[in-house]
Amino acid sequence: MTGRSLVAAEPYLVTQEYQNYTAEQQSVWSELVRRRLPQVREHACREFLEGYEIIGLSNELLPNLREITGRLKPRTGWSTTAVSGFLPGDAFFEMLAARMFPTTTWLRSRDSLAYIPEPDIFHDVFGHVPMHAHPVFADFLQHYGSVCSQIQDAKELERLGRLFWYTVEFGLVRQDGEIKVYGSGVISSHGECSNVIGGGCEVRPFSLNEVLDTPVKVDELQKVLFAIESFDQVYEAIQEAEKQIRQVSE
Ligand SMILES: [Fe+2]
Repeated sequence: MTGRSLVAAEPYLVTQEYQNYTAEQQSVWSELVRRRLPQVREHACREFLEGYEIIGLSNELLPNLREITGRLKPRTGWSTTAVSGFLPGDAFFEMLAARMFPTTTWLRSRDSLAYIPEPDIFHDVFGHVPMHAHPVFADFLQHYGSVCSQIQDAKELERLGRLFWYTVEFGLVRQDGEIKVYGSGVISSHGECSNVIGGGCEVRPFSLNEVLDTPVKVDELQKVLFAIESFDQVYEAIQEAEKQIRQVSE
């Protein structure tokens, strides 16, 4: 699947102009990493922390997407691909299906270190990309894109969007009797992560049907999240969701 040419996503591809990042932006990156790392080291799952080492993020310098791809691709076939911003569904799913993670290149400013409404390179790379080094998660994400890219029905897509939300964005996993985090929305946000580990959020065992039926909340701290027991569960979830959709459309 890798290396195939993109159609829907093609207009959104950009080049990361690395030399254009300013010293101020490098220093904001460094500040963000320094703020997040202590809690992430303590509360992120093993797979995330291993991926973090594999992709070789720096505490000092903004990530170079080409270098990250050079580390990821030999392991799981994923690339970290620069895009201009928010992608419509068809373009987004097309990229995931091709094992290309659409990644923003802009960085929040110093006055909004804690919260930004739209993803930036910190959310995308620090938060998401480490998990792409994990083979099962990597296959899940590719298959998710492939399933969604074949669906037209808005209601089905909304339900599958919840699977993405409660795994890729806000996923939790139970490890050694503790709740650990792996979704980018919890990894990259001190408020969301503290809410989870401080017990402000109900943690339910992951169940595909419950996830598909649970609407997402985008403008407040999460009140209900779902914990998997292992990453095999998310891979099985997308296969099961695909099966259910096929049965309905037959
Ligand atoms: Fe995200």
